[in-house]
Amino acid sequence: MSPSTDRADEASQDTSVPADSKINHAASINYWSSLPSTTSNMLGMLGTYPWYSRIELQGSKNFLTKVRRLLPALQPNGKFNLGVDCGAGVGRVTEGFLRHVCAVVDAVEPVSKFTQVLQEGQLKKDGVVGDIYTVGLENWFPEKKYDLIWTQWCVGHLTDSQLIQYVSRCRNSLTESGIMVIKENLSTDPGDQDMYDDVDSSVTRTDAKFKQIFDAAGMDVIKSEIQTGFPKQFKLLPVKSYALRPKI
Ligand SMILES: C[S@@+](CC[C@H](N)C(=O)[O-])C[C@H]1O[C@@H](n2cnc3c(N)ncnc32)[C@H](O)[C@@H]1O
Repeated sequence: MSPSTDRADEASQDTSVPADSKINHAASINYWSSLPSTTSNMLGMLGTYPWYSRIELQGSKNFLTKVRRLLPALQPNGKFNLGVDCGAGVGRVTEGFLRHVCAVVDAVEPVSKFTQVLQEGQLKKDGVVGDIYTVGLENWFPEKKYDLIWTQWCVGHLTDSQLIQYVSRCRNSLTESGIMVIKENLSTDPGDQDMYDDVDSSVTRTDAKFKQIFDAAGMDVIKSEIQTGFPKQFKLLPVKSYALRPKI
């Protein structure tokens, strides 16, 4: 689930059962709870490379700028009133990116030791971090109207059906010109299957699966982009951002 190297050449996936049927929420929470609450741990083995996070966050900023140009109702450079960082971890994305584009950023994250970091942090004291929900996305029912819902490197912890329901709930919680962005690794399985990872009990989906899920949730992909700028020798899984708007 965290950014990782491409191991698809090592073994193809067992296709006898759907990859998402192996997801075990308790195992995921145990795995993440066992890690120290540091920004670098949000990036798995790549957390030891600070440049990785910098490149990735800059890619998100550039992507969002392009998306905003597609939506004339938005001021190109103004801040969104209310955003939300979903699967926020200790707030790496909020700290490095979302606080620059949103006046207030809520956070959703199931691991309490991570939300404690957000709760006690300077951004919370400054009012930049707003409401914090210590809950998995499968159990998050957004009541507010969000201008930007950013969901990164965490939806592999949801089954396909939970993900459809989550995106569908998000669709209903967007403001009139609101945007949802999902940024995730893509499967490189040679048989075009989603890949299960038993380290953190998550799935890495194919591009085709993501598109099916967004369609089933009533969302159009208005822009998508593969993250660039990572050194090739690391053989990383492709990372793709999808900007979603409710189907008209
Ligand atoms: C790879 S980290 C990414 C954190 C952050 N999005 C980032 O990019 O720095 C994955 C995060 O997903 C969280 N997570 C695990 N299960 C989840 C679930 N059911 N719903 C939402 N987040 C979950 C983990 O606790 C962890 O904080």
